[in-house]
Order: sequence, then structure tokens, then C-alpha cells
Amino acid sequence: MMNEPVIELNNLKKYFTISGGLRGSKSYVKAVDGVTLTVDKGEIIGLVGESGSGKTTLARVLLNLTKPTDSSVVFNGVNLSKATRKEMEKFRTEVAVVFQDPASNLNPRDTVMNSIMRPLILHGTPKKIAKQKAAESLEKVKMDSRYLNSYPHQLSGGQLQRIAIARALVLNPKVMILDEPTSALDISVQAQILNLLLDLQENLNLTYLVITHDLNVIRYISDRIAVMYLGKLVELGQTEEVIKNPKHPYTEGLMAASPVMDPHDRTNEKHLMQGDPGSLINLPTGCHFHPRCPYCTDRCKNEEPQNTVLADGHQVSCFRYENEYIG
Ligand SMILES: Nc1ncnc2c1ncn2[C@@H]1O[C@H](COP(=O)(O)OP(=O)(O)OP(=O)(O)O)[C@@H](O)[C@H]1O
Ligand SMILES: [Mg+2]
Repeated sequence: MMNEPVIELNNLKKYFTISGGLRGSKSYVKAVDGVTLTVDKGEIIGLVGESGSGKTTLARVLLNLTKPTDSSVVFNGVNLSKATRKEMEKFRTEVAVVFQDPASNLNPRDTVMNSIMRPLILHGTPKKIAKQKAAESLEKVKMDSRYLNSYPHQLSGGQLQRIAIARALVLNPKVMILDEPTSALDISVQAQILNLLLDLQENLNLTYLVITHDLNVIRYISDRIAVMYLGKLVELGQTEEVIKNPKHPYTEGLMAASPVMDPHDRTNEKHLMQGDPGSLINLPTGCHFHPRCPYCTDRCKNEEPQNTVLADGHQVSCFRYENEYIG
């Protein structure tokens, strides 16, 4: 099957300006700093990285909720910075989002029916049709229609997340951005929601970008893994390959710190990775990961590694692999 790109990012940047210090000097938070990534139709990409690495910022740029500082998002071949109104309208119906916190997804004063049909109403769908589509959407997430008249406070976390997903589906999107879709849920409920997402993806031929700090979620759901560290993609590859054969020292550390699938075994969790989590303020020179890296050399302290493409599209930004360059 030919890969068909749905989202194309080419050296995408999003910097925030912060005024710092007594002299009012300006500095930047380089939340997304040169991300290059192509998401293909029908695939599930898992984006992983620790808190503050820029994952949500990348999602917000993708969703056009905030403008990139440099470069732009290309969606189905359309450069969003040059899109016509009609193309933007299409983009807004075809790309949907589910956030972690059901409370930020749903208005407490809206019934389930009203929450789910809101996007339709905003797009000018007549109320009668909107109601019908809302009911269909609730069915897609396997909830009984009696919940249509419920309010958020009457529902469990898992049910709320199903409703957030139903609402995301109501415009028949092609792409879903899922930012920590199960992080607020119990382990047992997490599995149900992940299975639901997998079913929907297959049945509706959706494309997902799933953001999470939970490697078990990534392992379970993704075709490919993208690893982000302090604003940069440091590794990208097929899920199996990256798990079995992590290349970047940060990915190695993540894998070692997260043994496969036993949620009760936390013995290994702290900490095969040395040093403190990095900060986007006071970024290290050279390779951003060097202060924590067991393989750090002098060169790593001064020079920033470029992305190297290894076999099967596996990519890594680390000097240890630069001589394996194949393409
Ligand atoms: N509007 C903003 N103004 C200034 N700085 C911001 C803004 N939004 C995000 N940042 C900064 O950008 C960096 C990346 O934040 P982001 O929320 O993208 O991280 P994240 O990877 O999603 O983290 P988490 O796993 O905790 O959700 C952080 O340092 C954050 O403080
Ligand atoms: Mg986030």
C-alpha cells in the first residue's frame, strides 16, 4: 500500500516569548524546535516524551489553535498558512481533538446531547439532523441513548471520555489528535477506552496522533512511535522496532524505566535515567540530552546531532549513529 501523507511537518517551530530578568530582556521557550514528521493516512502515531517536552504545543499548532513561529502545517496537501476559507472549513471538520481532562472537553451545564451536537450546530447543521447525528455518535462509542439527557456530573470518567470521543466523531473527521486520552482514567477503564479507539480507527479508517507519557499506551496502540525531548523529535520508527531496539539514549532510558505492562511492578521505575528532567529554559548547549546521557562525549556538549535515517525509516538524532546513515 502506498503511503498517503495526511499531515506533513517540515522543520516546524513554535517559540513562546517570555520576558525575563530585571532588565526586561526577552527570551524564548522553544517548545517545538524544528519538528519534521509525516503522518500517513490510516496510521496511529504515538508521540511520547516527558512533561514539558512540547507535545501539547505541537498538538495545538497542528490543530491551528496557535500559529507556528516558523514553517507551517500541511494538511492533505494544503499549507494551512495559505489556505482559503473553504479549505480551513474542511480542515476544521476533518481534524478532531480529544483532550485528557473530560472537564475541559465538556461544559458541565450541557446535557450529553447538547455537548455532542455543538460542533454540528456551530457548522450550521439544522437542529433536528444534529440531534439524530449526536445519537448516532453516542452509539459509535457504545453508550446507551438514555445517557443523551445526562449531565457530566452524573457520569463516570470513562463515560465522560466516551462522550468526548463521540463529540469528536460527530463531524466525521478523518484525523483525531488524542492528547493523553486515558491518563485521567483507572487502568481497567483505560484498556476499554483504548480498545474503543482501536475499533473506531479500524471501522472508520481514521488516522490518529496519540500523545502520551505512558509507554504502555503507546505499545498497545501505535504503529509508529515518535519520541520528543525538549522540543525536538529525537527518535522515530515502527513501534516494535523502537521498543526492541531503541537507539536514542533517552528512548533507551524511557524503555528501561517502564517495564512491559505490569502496572503493579514499579520497582524499576526510578530511575535508570540519570540527572534531572531537562528544562526548556536554560537549554543545554550541543545535544539537549547530553547532561543526562551515559554516552556523552565532548562533542555532544558543543555540537547538536542531526537526524540520521537508519533502516526501515527508523530515525534518530544521536552522534552514535551518524555513520550508519543510509538515506
Ligand atoms: N502559551 C504559552 N506561553 C508560554 N509558554 C508556554 C505556553 N504554552 C506552553 N508553554 C511552554 O512550552 C513548554 C512545552 O509545554 P507543553 O504543554 O507543550 O508540554 P507537554 O509535553 O505537553 O507537557 P505535559 O506532558 O506536561 O502535558 C513548557 O515549557 C511550557 O511552559
Ligand atoms: Mg501536554
